[in-house]
Amino acid sequence: MSQALIGKPVERVDGRLKVTGGARYAAEFKVANLAHGVLVMSTIANGSISSIDVKAAKSAPGVLEVITHLNAPRLRFPERPQVNDDGVAPVFGRALPVLQDKTIYFNAQPIAVVIAETLEQAEYAATLVQVAYEERKPVTKLETEMASAFPPQEGLMKEPPTGRPADYMRGDPDALSKAEVKIDETYTIPIEHHNPMELLSTIAEWSGDKLTLHDKTQWVPNTQSHVALVFSIPEENVRVISPFVGGAFGSSLRPWSHPVVAAMAARAVKRPVKLVVARNQMFTSHGHRPYTVQRVALGATREGKLTAIVHEGYAQTSLYEENTESLVNATRMLYASPNCITKYRLVRGNIQTPLYMRGPGECSGVFALDSAMDELAYKLKIDPVEMRIRNHADVDPSDGLPWSSKSLLECYRRGAEIFGWSRRTPEPRSMRDGRYLIGMGMATATYPTLRMPASARARIFSDGTAVVQSSASDMGPGTWTMMKIIGAESLAMDLNKVRSELGDSTLPKGSVHGGSGTTASVGSAIYEASQAVKAKLLKLASDDKRSPLQGATEQQVTFADGRISLKSDSSRGETYAEILRRNRLPSIEATVDSKPGDEGKKFSMHAFGAHFIEVRVDADLGMTHVSRGVTVCGGGRIMNEKTALSQMTGGVVGGIGMALTEETVMDHRMGRIVNANLGEYHVPVHADIPALQAFFVEERDEHCNPIGAKGIGEVSYVGVAAAVANAVFHATGKRIRQLPITLDKLL
Ligand code: MOS
Repeated sequence: MSQALIGKPVERVDGRLKVTGGARYAAEFKVANLAHGVLVMSTIANGSISSIDVKAAKSAPGVLEVITHLNAPRLRFPERPQVNDDGVAPVFGRALPVLQDKTIYFNAQPIAVVIAETLEQAEYAATLVQVAYEERKPVTKLETEMASAFPPQEGLMKEPPTGRPADYMRGDPDALSKAEVKIDETYTIPIEHHNPMELLSTIAEWSGDKLTLHDKTQWVPNTQSHVALVFSIPEENVRVISPFVGGAFGSSLRPWSHPVVAAMAARAVKRPVKLVVARNQMFTSHGHRPYTVQRVALGATREGKLTAIVHEGYAQTSLYEENTESLVNATRMLYASPNCITKYRLVRGNIQTPLYMRGPGECSGVFALDSAMDELAYKLKIDPVEMRIRNHADVDPSDGLPWSSKSLLECYRRGAEIFGWSRRTPEPRSMRDGRYLIGMGMATATYPTLRMPASARARIFSDGTAVVQSSASDMGPGTWTMMKIIGAESLAMDLNKVRSELGDSTLPKGSVHGGSGTTASVGSAIYEASQAVKAKLLKLASDDKRSPLQGATEQQVTFADGRISLKSDSSRGETYAEILRRNRLPSIEATVDSKPGDEGKKFSMHAFGAHFIEVRVDADLGMTHVSRGVTVCGGGRIMNEKTALSQMTGGVVGGIGMALTEETVMDHRMGRIVNANLGEYHVPVHADIPALQAFFVEERDEHCNPIGAKGIGEVSYVGVAAAVANAVFHATGKRIRQLPITLDKLL
């Protein structure tokens, strides 16, 4: 693609709608005759319902129906992997069979839905549902269950669909014991919750056996196919509408129970039903970053060259699904060690199934790996940046493939320079400002470049405008705007002549809005659809003796400003609109199904970056504040610098939350989350965040996809927690290996 528009700062096309309240989120659609559903949650974590009494609830004012496992319709929740449901869902297991039987798998599991005329009536009646249980002791603590850890079934498959074998090894299995210098430590990350501003919500409306869902989702076609499967109706009978998503961070990558319950409720009361999951219920209504325990052992020469890496990760999953993530994967490719062993194990517990959260896997894994790299650097008295440069991987050490592009050395160099790394004195506790201990830390960021199948349509109208369409979601990074920019650029039209449309299952099938892959996937599809529609236009003109372009081939013409002209004589040509009007066509369109080729077999494709963090730790009180942050990233072609830089600093904010404040606290006696609210689950607020700086190293990646986009949504998070922990060590001399780094751990 040319560079006329790509990369220039463009305002969000949905910005005005969002700040004026004009953007409709799932629960805000106006639907006539709407009834309201409220979930009732279990108060035990393990066991079964012995009786459930809904009489009082049913006779409360305004109540239309109460649905429990006793009267719910029998639905189909297929076992995976027998059914390929093409979704972000654990590869093995079965989605929670909501309201299908009396079994309780985790605390605050949905066990009933009350439907009433108003939200208040439903909320009140929900308190009247009486439940008795047969209770068993819950198991929620990973550490006590380590003995029953097992390799994920997916990881044992010959070709795991996620490409994540349970075990991996290269080189000498005894390299660690032979190393001149080594460290061997354990790192723990608590459960963390996504906590987006928008709650999970669905409005479900049946018309005969056709269902419309206004749903908060990161993957419109997946919600469509899941709900169709569960209700045993054809996919085309389910329409999912989701134009705006008020933050999600991974929490809406798969459909949870709520769209199914909303649809069930709407069918029962023969009216549209709105179901909004309350903030406290959010902590068990979608997944979370799983609790993990990781052992990282590094061996090196005295010069700081890695000779051995061992990374063993244990992650929690639910009783009924195997949630897996790339916990140990980055370790295989990030540094150039000839010897490397990784192992990945799951441990079951009475919890909701976890799910990807903000740079899943890599984010947790690199916290451990890059903390360990820092520990090794101190042990060897080597500068942490220099330590990473000495172990830079020039090719992917896991498979020997060349990188599609990589600017990591430049990220280290520029990051250090902008941050002022040279002012850092290496000794811990050597930098001070009054009562504050100052610390500087850094870490590497990495995230795979993914491209998923996606379809898109490009349509040019005879009035000289165009639209590009795909059923993608936009949870905030700027997909609406990205689609418009790539559409305008690929169609060779003025930016303000091109619109984008997304978030509706009637549009061509978009990819998942996740894995940092939306631009690479949907953007590539728009690029290809645009090429196809331009070729159609040229053919119309070329085949037409009334056209000045008669007989012209693609090689002979230029597309620019909504016009096709001859390269040899630019005065000979005509606009897209002229071609369409002469042919009496209101519009012309092309739809393509786009998918990756075999580039992944030839190149290793990842975004890389470096985070530099400065902290101020109160020497008396142990309170840590991030005072500065510099991030430099090589993320392929940047489509919109304005939204991309905002995405990078946003990721750093999330990483600071992971490092310093975020922790879902479980009372293991009851298996209950005790801080299921925003008052006690601490996401960073403005007062926690300094002015953060982010920069891109310009990359022209010719290999990863037709538009050269690597994806930056998640590389922005990866490594931040390690950089903060490393800065805290530099400030205080205390190595905190258990997140979050709260003041009690520093006193
Ligand atoms: Mo992302 S955690 O794939 O939404």
